[in-house]
Amino acid sequence: MFDIKKIKADFPIFKASKEATLHYLDSAASSQTPECVISAMDEYYRNFRSNVHRGAYALSEKASESYEGARATVAGFVGANQNEIVFTAGATASVNMLAYSFEQSLDLKEGDEIVVSIMEHHAMLLPLQELARRKKLNLKYINVDENYRLDYKSVESLITERTKIVGITLASNVTGAINDVSYISQIVRKMGALVVVDATAAMGHIPVSVKELDCDAMFFSGHKMCGPTGIGALYINGELGEKLNPSFFGGGIVTDVDLEKAEFVSAPEKFEAGTPNISGAIGIAEAVKYLTEVGLENIKKHTEELTSYTIEKLKEIDGVKIFAEQDVEKNVGIVSFTVEGAHPHDVIEFLGRDNVAVRGGHHCALPFVKTLGVPATVRASIYLYNTKEDIDALVSSVKKAQEFFKK
Ligand SMILES: Cc1ncc(COP(=O)(O)O)c(C=O)c1O
Repeated sequence: MFDIKKIKADFPIFKASKEATLHYLDSAASSQTPECVISAMDEYYRNFRSNVHRGAYALSEKASESYEGARATVAGFVGANQNEIVFTAGATASVNMLAYSFEQSLDLKEGDEIVVSIMEHHAMLLPLQELARRKKLNLKYINVDENYRLDYKSVESLITERTKIVGITLASNVTGAINDVSYISQIVRKMGALVVVDATAAMGHIPVSVKELDCDAMFFSGHKMCGPTGIGALYINGELGEKLNPSFFGGGIVTDVDLEKAEFVSAPEKFEAGTPNISGAIGIAEAVKYLTEVGLENIKKHTEELTSYTIEKLKEIDGVKIFAEQDVEKNVGIVSFTVEGAHPHDVIEFLGRDNVAVRGGHHCALPFVKTLGVPATVRASIYLYNTKEDIDALVSSVKKAQEFFKK
């Protein structure tokens, strides 16, 4: 049973003594952290802090066990094998690492193609754009239709035998739309290109399986799924992981080094040079356990109801234009909108004074926001701890803002 009171009490930020009236609708930027995640990390620092993989004493063994256990937990969450999960500093770090690795390890020739969707966050777009520029590759885009959904009909003709990499987000961080990535993978497979999935906005909202998505690589950040900041996971399919060179070099990734060269261990360790974010890995694994215990289906159902309510209430306000996936089953809890006569930055500042925390801007997805025909949007993003009261506070504050800026 999904008990919202109990869920809310799991998150110290909402404790009455602190932020009684906090209406936190900015989880797509960064979610809040439950007590169990904070405690798991605290436990590491207090009771078994030491480096991993390098010591034979009890503390280090415990740290190594916890770190590798965290990898197993995260792998299980997305249906991957343990050796296919690389811990990184987050989504952005993952794609940069991957793009650099692709450049070194794949046979990319001038005129080859990278295909991405217009919806991509800059974290996916810019490293691939840079890769395309450096290797003189053509960057092609899957556009959206009039409902801001991917134009699936165009995919078959966009992907050719010159296509080497396809980058696609599982959910848009602007409209919340969940994309049919498996459909795209099916087409890509016929041409032999690699599929890279940005699961950052979707993870912790819907069940995600690398097998079902049929992807070669996938990445996400801990801080958007109740975990800590500074940690993320990069799935690299076993076969691809063996083929790719590391992008970072240093301690912990070699079998031998001589004066001219080094030989590397296998994945995932070869992609984790240096001391990893041990407490972060423990934290993200605890977040996975927490989300699993609450149940992703329950979380989805809850956010679906609130997303539906948000759209319905915002639609009642004249001058509010909504940019969101309106089929809420296919939305991860994100509602972007504009208010006629007021710039999104002014609106969010106004809302902030009412303790309604939302984000305004281009959400690091400029090509997509430009496609929507606006310079920026206000974005409300909903997660497991939100309530109808949060949405009512949002709607009431938007109405007040509209009146205020009319003057
Ligand atoms: C869809 C999507 N991809 C990637 C990122 C980048 O994540 P991070 O800033 O944690 O690297 C974000 C963050 O907003 C996102 O929403």
